[in-house]
Amino acid sequence: MPLDIIIGAQWGDEGKGRITDRLAESAAVAARYSGGDNAGHTVTIGGEIFKLNLLPSGLLNPRTVGVLGNGMVINPKRLIEEMDKLAARGVDVTPNRIKISYAAHLITPGHIALDQASEAALGTGKIGTTGRGIGPAYTDKIARRGVRMESLLDMESAADQVMAQIEQTNRTLQVAYGQPPLDARAVASEFASYVHRLLPYITDTALYLHEMLKAGKTVLAEGAQGALLDIDHGTYPYVTSSSPTTGGAFIGLGVGPGFLGRVIGVVKAFQTRVGEGPFPTEAFGAEAERLRGTGANPWDEFGTVTRRPRRCGWLDLVLLRYSARVNGLTELAVTKLDVLSGLERVRLCKSYRREGKVYDELPLGPAHLEGFEAVYEELPGWSADLTGARKPDDLPAAARQYLARIEALTGLKISMASVGPEREQLVIF
Ligand code: IMP
Repeated sequence: MPLDIIIGAQWGDEGKGRITDRLAESAAVAARYSGGDNAGHTVTIGGEIFKLNLLPSGLLNPRTVGVLGNGMVINPKRLIEEMDKLAARGVDVTPNRIKISYAAHLITPGHIALDQASEAALGTGKIGTTGRGIGPAYTDKIARRGVRMESLLDMESAADQVMAQIEQTNRTLQVAYGQPPLDARAVASEFASYVHRLLPYITDTALYLHEMLKAGKTVLAEGAQGALLDIDHGTYPYVTSSSPTTGGAFIGLGVGPGFLGRVIGVVKAFQTRVGEGPFPTEAFGAEAERLRGTGANPWDEFGTVTRRPRRCGWLDLVLLRYSARVNGLTELAVTKLDVLSGLERVRLCKSYRREGKVYDELPLGPAHLEGFEAVYEELPGWSADLTGARKPDDLPAAARQYLARIEALTGLKISMASVGPEREQLVIF
């Protein structure tokens, strides 16, 4: 009857979607608890590629119900588009399969305009957001003037609240950023059109999840982004505006820790980052390009949401140990191990050096990464193609040694490793 939590253990884009998809086979519910359509989860099933931004990846399993928890910020237009796209591909998106928390917050065009205006004004000091209005929507939530899903239960109140939100936005857009105002009435009437569509999905998801857990069902809390993008525990200010860490799952779903089972940290076999901010193991030139891929494949290292090329580098175990501690990880799922095939040597960052001193832990957390240089352990690479591996014995000795060093240097067991984008391309340990 556990609540199993799937956490991105790095800067997002670890491949949480495909791990959730696999674990959803034995789960009754998959629930998103933070973020919004800044997330991009890709799942490949029988050559068919599904890209999800708001709906939980677990929904692709026909027996799993998808929940959008109270901790999310939801752009209703995008949610409806995503549901329609999935429906067109034969996925059941009726209200008995998708439940949306009445307490989740709505993203309006005002939030998107503010996100983009604020980034433009920051110039070279920008955060590098996805431009989806995430930060401003959470700002309104914390300032206690946000518009929640429950407002859609009453058409008039929805229109009034959305109008007020846009009028408030317009003051900031005009005064702080010198931008033209939005048409508040047009936005309010656009939102009114969402009411009928979303009404049947809005419910008390915390109560629903509690009942499922009490009945002995497995619930997967599906993380979005990654621990290093957490507003408290990440590389502040280059973070998102929510809590993608384990603690965020309890708040963002309204479920207590008593049901907690596994906490699975999903980690890429190397390191990537989108947007700005320090990155001690960042690779450049041909080495970075080798890890990134050319963009010819949808799983190459280009943003799912923005298509920006991701910054790539070597796996950073100082940051992974930090992530394991902050999240209380019980195990690791390593993704994209196959990408390292063909490299003569592979590297793991096991500590940092600064001014001649070696650090195994960051003295002031990941917001203070500046000035730290990675200390690497080099291991032999392997040339074998891993994409057909399904059991540990199918992996070459050097790949097993690489995984064993990750286990030894983090103190965590690796329970699975992905060797290709397909649902089946997983080695289970
Ligand atoms: P925001 O979440 O759009 O406000 O963006 C804040 C930071 O988080 C930026 O550096 C984004 O690139 C990053 N970010 C947000 N969502 C994701 C994600 O799903 N994967 C990777 N990076 C993300």
